[in-house]
Amino acid sequence: MRALQFTTYGGPEQLAWAEAPEPHAGPGQVRVAVRAASVNPIDWKMLSGAMAQDERPERPVLLGFDAAGVVDEVGDRVDGVAVGDEVFGRGSGTQAELAVLDAWATRPEGVDWAVVAAAGVAGETSERGLRLLGVESGTTLFVDGGAGGVGAVAVQMAVTRGATVVASASEANHPLLRDLGATPVLYGDGVVERVMDAAGGQVDAVFDVAGKTPAEDLVRLVRDPAQVVSIANFGAAAAGARVTGGGDDSKPVEALELTASLLAEGRLEIPVRTFPFEEAAEAYRISQSGHVRGKLVLVHP
Ligand SMILES: NC(=O)c1ccc[n+]([C@@H]2O[C@H](COP(=O)([O-])OP(=O)(O)OC[C@H]3O[C@@H](n4cnc5c(N)ncnc54)[C@H](OP(=O)(O)O)[C@@H]3O)[C@@H](O)[C@H]2O)c1
Repeated sequence: MRALQFTTYGGPEQLAWAEAPEPHAGPGQVRVAVRAASVNPIDWKMLSGAMAQDERPERPVLLGFDAAGVVDEVGDRVDGVAVGDEVFGRGSGTQAELAVLDAWATRPEGVDWAVVAAAGVAGETSERGLRLLGVESGTTLFVDGGAGGVGAVAVQMAVTRGATVVASASEANHPLLRDLGATPVLYGDGVVERVMDAAGGQVDAVFDVAGKTPAEDLVRLVRDPAQVVSIANFGAAAAGARVTGGGDDSKPVEALELTASLLAEGRLEIPVRTFPFEEAAEAYRISQSGHVRGKLVLVHP
């Protein structure tokens, strides 16, 4: 099978769409014939070597943490899914022809492969952040970075819970934020004041999905600094905010099932831009620019 991979840390020019050993489903896993897999910022962070201890990987590194496809192998201790089922979810090495998933949900009927592929990491991360913040009907929430992969899903998930949402983006993405159900504000200097103006005072919760606004500023928006949760600023704890990277905070299966039902009901829409796997380097370049609208997704023809 072919998989996106690299052998030298660096930029998108290091990517190769090349042969790799076939993965197999272990206990609790399924393998899918991949139809589409999304690009997440963690992919180019891994590629850059910023997350590595070694100077050069010992063997080719495969990329990708979510995908959608058709189940073609079912591991031990797995119930409720069979070869031929169409699923989407989270795994590793997913930007490939075959990939192993650790958590999945059924592909909602009629929802595009690229859209469900985009929903794995973004859906799980959004559910996690909103649950940690206790977002429910009546909550006023600020999403810092609302037009990106996680942000666009988090805004809509919060709206379905009955929250009032203010979200930041560049000016060009304000119409998108309005469509998603949020009041848009510009990010950057003065963002705290703009959020307070839009919300009529402090908010109940802040979901920092961009990691760009200093945490010391974001905590001014809430009564309790712990009501700021960041997924992208790992220094935010110094200001009293909470930081989550997944792990024990994560309930992937529940999150994916929630995401699937919102997609099925048409209450969640994910803007996607697609690229053939052979052109993954271009998608990585755009992701690295930090100004993605919705999700970038690699697709097989
Ligand atoms: N900890 C975890 O579990 C976890 C999980 C998933 C992702 N992440 C991390 O979370 C971050 C976001 O991921 P993503 O997939 O949503 O990224 P993405 O799709 O690349 O989105 C980036 C978004 O950030 C916005 N942005 C750029 N500059 C900003 C600023 N100064 N203030 C506020 N927003 C700004 C952009 O808006 P404009 O286009 O309008 O400029 C864009 O929509 C990444 O660092 C990623 O690695 C962490």
